[in-house]
Amino acid sequence: MKPLLVTSALPYANGHIHLGHVLEYTLTDIYARYQRMSGRRCIFICADDTHGAPIMMRARKEGRSEVDLITEMAEAHLRDFDKLQIRFDHYGSTNSEATRWVCHRIWEGLRSRNMISNREVTQLFDPQAGVFLADRFVKGTCPKCSSPDQYGDSCDKCGSTYAATDLIDPKSTLSGARPEIRSAPHIFVAVEGEHAFLEQWTQAEGRMPKEIANYLAGHFLSEPLRDWDVSRPAPYFGFEIPDAPGNYWYVWYDAPIGYVGSTKEWCEKNGESFDKWWRSDEVEIVHVIGKDIVYFHTLFWPVMLKSSGYSLPSRVQVHGFLTVNGEKMSKSKGTFIMASTYLEHLDPAYLRYYYASKLGSRVEDLDLNLEEFVQKVNSELVNKVVNLASRTSRFVAKTGLSASYPDDGGLFEGAAKAGDEIAEAYASFDSARAIRGIIALADRANEYVDRMAPWALAKQPGKEAEVQAVCTVALNLYRQIVLYLAPVLPKLAEESGKLLNAPMDQWSLAKTPLVGTPVSTYQHLMKRVEMEAVQRMIDASKTADAAAEPKTTTAAEAPAAEKSLPVDDGEALAKEPLAAECSIDDFKKVDLRIARIVEAEGVPGAKKLLKLTVSLGGDAKRTVFAGIKAHYDPKDLVGRLVVVCANLAPRQMKFGTSEGMVLAAGGEDTVFLLSPDTGAKPGMRIH
Ligand code: MSP
Ligand code: ZN
Repeated sequence: MKPLLVTSALPYANGHIHLGHVLEYTLTDIYARYQRMSGRRCIFICADDTHGAPIMMRARKEGRSEVDLITEMAEAHLRDFDKLQIRFDHYGSTNSEATRWVCHRIWEGLRSRNMISNREVTQLFDPQAGVFLADRFVKGTCPKCSSPDQYGDSCDKCGSTYAATDLIDPKSTLSGARPEIRSAPHIFVAVEGEHAFLEQWTQAEGRMPKEIANYLAGHFLSEPLRDWDVSRPAPYFGFEIPDAPGNYWYVWYDAPIGYVGSTKEWCEKNGESFDKWWRSDEVEIVHVIGKDIVYFHTLFWPVMLKSSGYSLPSRVQVHGFLTVNGEKMSKSKGTFIMASTYLEHLDPAYLRYYYASKLGSRVEDLDLNLEEFVQKVNSELVNKVVNLASRTSRFVAKTGLSASYPDDGGLFEGAAKAGDEIAEAYASFDSARAIRGIIALADRANEYVDRMAPWALAKQPGKEAEVQAVCTVALNLYRQIVLYLAPVLPKLAEESGKLLNAPMDQWSLAKTPLVGTPVSTYQHLMKRVEMEAVQRMIDASKTADAAAEPKTTTAAEAPAAEKSLPVDDGEALAKEPLAAECSIDDFKKVDLRIARIVEAEGVPGAKKLLKLTVSLGGDAKRTVFAGIKAHYDPKDLVGRLVVVCANLAPRQMKFGTSEGMVLAAGGEDTVFLLSPDTGAKPGMRIH
């Protein structure tokens, strides 16, 4: 199979990455990771989209250079992508020499085919700011329905579209000045000459989702294609057009060229042939984009490439838009969530999994329903997948896996076969179908473990070999499942590889059982997601928005991040200096557990003591005497979680035997019981 070059749309440098963007980058990353795992050469290329009027205006407003601004934004984008486990082979910028070079080459191609012409364009001009105004920088009264405060291209109220020059009482949103109508020469690219080519190219089988191809045929391609205005007069942040000084390429001319420029940088860095990757039929190119930018990628872009001898994409994969809780993302509801805010509160694996489970190959909007998000992650990922390993691996931590693969009634074989169908789903951008297949395998594996109950076998003498066989099967089924999930959950695959002491980086590994290898001590692989954490993220998203609008932020409601930390004096430490150093082995001797207080009562004749009954889950209960009577009311204690030392030798006291110790901070006059964060369960060990 040919090597594959995959791209995501280049995010604008004038905003931070939000969960809508994340949908696209996750979708592409899953695809690229699947391809690499299946043994196909695949590079994932992206870049920041840096040019245009909004960047220029913002830099002016902030009193700094555009380059300074876009450098800072690129760093922020890369930080987010890295934490989201989105792995690019190269992340460039449209504001690079490589992109400029390709812009020139493609321009030469268009010129040599006589596709370029000049024409005067009348546009609104802000005399105070000294710039021509893009439609979004003009507001005024709708010429159709007279609603005030409408943008320069379309009316929110009646939905009609018009030219900015038709607005009644227009105002520049930059300076408030009344714009003048001025004309300036613009440069146009004629695309109509390629109408027949575009008809054939867009309608080719597999080129793009069927509904998109139909839409293009029914809308743009059913009439002559209009010339495309690709220049903007100075001042503009972008590349100056070489044969038209004082004019700059419009941002959408050089944006897709950024794909090529970024690849060129990657080639130079890695000693690869640029001509092979962009000017030959040895490579397959796949673009992934949102439905809002189809027009640029399927009409102008193929014409630009073709006219200058560059390779055309074999597929343009289009996805729908993200909604949150059934609605457009909203700043006031806290559902306009930045990637960085999400990452402060939640594990990226949850979102990758949720998106993967919802992304089919059709162009449909995807709803992030937060209740469903919590439920899906907990019931599928934690309870069905991770639980397979957590409840079996400890029984084989000493022995490792059996030397030969036991009879499992065809489970492994069946799951190995199912892998082909799951692979096919990933290869066609249908991760939802892949996940459905994987969860069905997890259900089957769990049925097996429930039926064999290794924890019960382990209690019976002489059943060691049977326990090992059952767990060998369970962990092999787990391994297949995690291999199939690896494009979505690379970290889980990596950690599970450590548990089983065998890497999990190739698709074909799911065909052969793993036998005779050691099993490491089980480490927590993934914790449950709590609705409280989701709520904190929503609250933080509201706060972030309030902070962005200084008008509504009073000193009293300053964002949480700016509140100063309390000052902690050194009194407690001075009163009780640190104990002598202990080794990790010393620490491990102390078995600390989460426990729930199920009964609490005073002890007749004991001034300081409360008698507590604590549960470690199931039937495991302990009686513990604690010197906390002066500080806690017994009825307030019943039901709460605490931390106990569970392997302390029982101690005979005047009033009974104490079978452990409840942990608390403080001393004689103050006592503070410790409690875990929400989600912890009785019986869990503290490490
Ligand atoms: N800079 C252009 C793309 C140039 S590609 C040569 C752009 N940037 S963007 O930052 O607005 O969007 C980047 C990608 O994210 C686009 O494919 C866009 O469709 C996608 N999304 C942006 N918001 C989105 C949602 N709310 N939901 C899903 N995808 C969204 O467009
Ligand atoms: Zn209107």
